[in-house]
Amino acid sequence: MKHAQRQVIIAGNWKMNKTSQEASVLADKILSKITTDKNQPEIVLIPPFTSLPTVSAKLAGKPVKLGAQNMDWHDEGAYTGEISPLMLLDFKVQYILIGHSERRQFFGETNATTNLRLKAALAHGLLPILCVGELLDEREADLTDAVVGRQVGAALTDIDPALFAKVTIAYEPVWAIGTGNICEAAAANRVCGVIRKTVSALYARYGGNGNNFDAATMPILYGGSVKANNVVEQLKQEHIDGSLVGGASLNAEEFLAIIQAAGERVKRNLVAPAR
Ligand code: PGA
Repeated sequence: MKHAQRQVIIAGNWKMNKTSQEASVLADKILSKITTDKNQPEIVLIPPFTSLPTVSAKLAGKPVKLGAQNMDWHDEGAYTGEISPLMLLDFKVQYILIGHSERRQFFGETNATTNLRLKAALAHGLLPILCVGELLDEREADLTDAVVGRQVGAALTDIDPALFAKVTIAYEPVWAIGTGNICEAAAANRVCGVIRKTVSALYARYGGNGNNFDAATMPILYGGSVKANNVVEQLKQEHIDGSLVGGASLNAEEFLAIIQAAGERVKRNLVAPAR
């Protein structure tokens, strides 16, 4: 299958796991096997906030990027318990998860706040990974495309089209996260195709035509129970350019095997355009 030239990304979301000492051990294990192979995907480690300093120091000079799991949209102020984009930049964070379903489900995040976070991330030069996905009952009611379309549309509302090229979207069906119940590859691919079309339409709506972006080049990741033994099938799909990995990213061997599997996808792409 021919893929448009898109960046292939493997991102490991450690969620609320690992003390900084444990994070240090995990980062060392992963980094010990990372080379500068040209077929390597873009690799992103996303530890909890408290481990950002430790992991950041380890990534210096390494072909691995640092991400954070969430951030507030204000630069500073009376927002107890929140972390600002400037605080993340302090630790050389480059990627930021926006609107992960656990934030939406357990911490009251809405489509409107994903939009605010996305705008703030882009304003500060962070690369957002916008997470979207339907709940099981939405899927069963055949509402997947409507829900995902709404999430993408809301998050990208009034985003400068010149910045669309900085955005990555992760399709993460909520029922597949942490359940071992991966979304079948062709079904995931179909939804990722819907996302690509939606982005393309939004880009045109915001006057982006003739600008520097083509939705065919936007990296779209799949997330939800990705493991080394199921990632290959996912990455054969036309619209799936990488993986957002939760549980399996906490195991260095498993995560490295996923990275290796993604190398095949990179080869088919020939190049990973820099952003
Ligand atoms: P999982 O989590 O790989 O443990 O299913 C994915 C995610 O939440 O990003």
